[in-house]
This record gives sequence, structure tokens and C-alpha cells, in this order.
Amino acid sequence: MTMNDSYLVEAEDINKTFYTRHFLQLDEDTRQRRWYKMNTVHAAESISFGIRPGEVFGLLGPNGAGKTTAVKMISGLIRPDSGRVLVDGMDVEKKRKQILRKIGVVLEGTRTSIWPLTPLENLVYYGNLRNVRGKILKDRSHELLDFIGLKEKKNVEVRKLSRGQKQKLAICIAMISDPMVLLLDEPTTGLDVQSARAIKDKIIEMTRGQGRCVLVTTHDMHVAQELCDRIGIIDKGKLVACQPTPDLLGLFSEEMYLYRLDRQPEPGEFSGINGVLSVEIDPEAEGPNILVQLDLSPAARSEAFYGLAERLRGLGCELRAIEHRQQNLERVFLKLTTSTI
Ligand SMILES: Nc1ncnc2c1ncn2[C@@H]1O[C@H](COP(=O)(O)OP(=O)(O)O)[C@@H](O)[C@H]1O
Ligand SMILES: [Mg+2]
Repeated sequence: MTMNDSYLVEAEDINKTFYTRHFLQLDEDTRQRRWYKMNTVHAAESISFGIRPGEVFGLLGPNGAGKTTAVKMISGLIRPDSGRVLVDGMDVEKKRKQILRKIGVVLEGTRTSIWPLTPLENLVYYGNLRNVRGKILKDRSHELLDFIGLKEKKNVEVRKLSRGQKQKLAICIAMISDPMVLLLDEPTTGLDVQSARAIKDKIIEMTRGQGRCVLVTTHDMHVAQELCDRIGIIDKGKLVACQPTPDLLGLFSEEMYLYRLDRQPEPGEFSGINGVLSVEIDPEAEGPNILVQLDLSPAARSEAFYGLAERLRGLGCELRAIEHRQQNLERVFLKLTTSTI
């Protein structure tokens, strides 16, 4: 696959398999102990995507889908078995040093900050590690802490900060070298509503205007829907969709209709109607109903409406209302993934 030049981050067909735990077991036949390979996990299978400057890209998927693994491969922390990652046109494996300066990473649940130090001291420490020095470092540290909303906590020991404040500091630490690419693994997971809100707002602010590109991973559809310009849905190591958020929401939207009825028919009684792709009962909707999925073409859709009306009449069902059902990301997600968690 050839990628667009305008991508700042490009994952090209990356694969990663983990082999977990080799163990010794007694072979019943030979009475000898043998090594067994226990498990192979395909954490990434042919994953390809690109992120443009000024864009928040979301990797959305259930636990264990491979999100953290993807972030680690993009930042060069682990090596893909095959495929490559380009940042600003450079191969992450070949140009590690240059790339590291361009990327800021916050991995999920890691204790980046040093707890006995203050946020300001942390930033100075990490800035020095990343070759940011002197006045630039001092100014940027204050700017970042003001920007993220830690102004009042600058000189308070990190261990006394809340979880949300620690996460804000972790983002500042990742930003200290002013990277053009920011990788945030589950940035709002486990935070209260206000902290999560503040962090989402700041992520958007950092991305717009400043031409940065941000990769956010999340298992939370609301976070993805709210925050991301484009979403890649990842499930069991595979990218099952990758589209601008509105397109993803529109994927199945036009064709869903909820029929409210006076009594509950079986979905099976609606088979064989032209233009009707599926019929099910929506347990969330109150009262007897059928949720129908119609063909997208106008001609087939008309057919479907007529056919459904006729079938309902034949069944003696009275039609109370027809509602256009707005698609949400959750439905799209469940349709695209096989996992239910
Ligand atoms: N170092 C590792 N060794 C073995 N298996 C791993 C390792 N890291 C991740 N995995 C496995 O790879 C899969 C994807 O993990 P991960 O990328 O952490 O998922 P996510 O971040 O989406 O929850 C999981 O099945 C996980 O158990
Ligand atoms: Mg993870």
C-alpha cells in the first residue's frame, strides 16, 4: 500500500505476534520432559494507517485488542515483526534518535513522573534528559503547566496530586521537547468527568493551531466520538475500520428504522421482503417493535416500505409509528467487531 505524503505518522502493514510462556511438561509416552509453547497472540495483523498534521486520530478497541502494542511500535519501544513505521517520513527503526525527539508518549498507567518531586522539578528533569535546557526549558515548563491547568500545583509534590493531575503532568512531560507527534495511550481512562473533559479539551487545543498530530487510544466510544477526527477500530489485532468519525457514524445510519407496533411479531415473519436486509427486535425500545435495516438505494427502499406494510397487515399488526433510528458509534462498533466487551 502506498501512503499519502502528507501523513506525519504512517504505519505500513505492521505485524506483531507475542509468544507467551514456554513451559516444561512431562511427555507421557517418552517419560521425558519437553518444552511446550503455550500461546501465540497476534497483537497486530497487517495494521496500516496514517495520521495527518492537525489531526486527532483514535485507535478504538476493546481490552486486549492491540492498542498499546500499536503505540509501542509507533514510538519505537517494541519492534514490529514485519512492516514499518514512518514518522515525518523517517523509518522509526533506522532513525531512532531523530524520531525520539519528534515524539512524545504517555503510556497507559505508567508512573512517568517522579513522585517526591514537584511538577516543575519533573519537567526540568525530563527536559534535561531530552536536551531541552536553560531559559527555553524554564519558560516551556511554566507555559505547559499553565496551559494544562496545573498552575497552582507547580510546587506541590507529585505524590500529593490527584490521579487526573498526575495524568495532566504526564502529558506535560511528553510535551516538554515540543514534539510534533503525541501518542496518548488511554489518556482519560479512570479519570473523573471534569479531569477527562479538561484533558480532552487540551488535546484538541494542542492539535489544532499547532499542526501537531495526536494518536489517542481508547476503549471508550464516547471519547473516540468526541475527540477524534478519524477513528481506526481495532479488534484482535486487526484494523476492521478506519474512517473519518462522521463517515463511521454514517456507515449504517440511513437504513435503520424502528417500527412501533401494537403487538410483538417474530422477526422471522418478515423474511423474503425485497429491500429489507434484516429485522430484529430492539429490546431497548419500549413496547412491541421491529428494528429494520433497509437497502440504501431509493427504489429498493420503497419496495421495502411497501413490503413491510403489507406483511404487517397480513400479520394483523397495527402500526403505531415509524422512527428513523440514528446510528451511534456503539452499534457501529458492535457490528464491526466480534467481541462483545
Ligand atoms: N509483552 C507481551 N507479551 C505477551 N503478550 C503480550 C505482550 N504485550 C501484549 N500482549 C498481548 O497482546 C494483546 C494486545 O495487548 P495490548 O496491546 O496491551 O492491548 P490493548 O492495549 O488494546 O488492551 C493482548 O492479548 C496481550 O495479552
Ligand atoms: Mg492498552
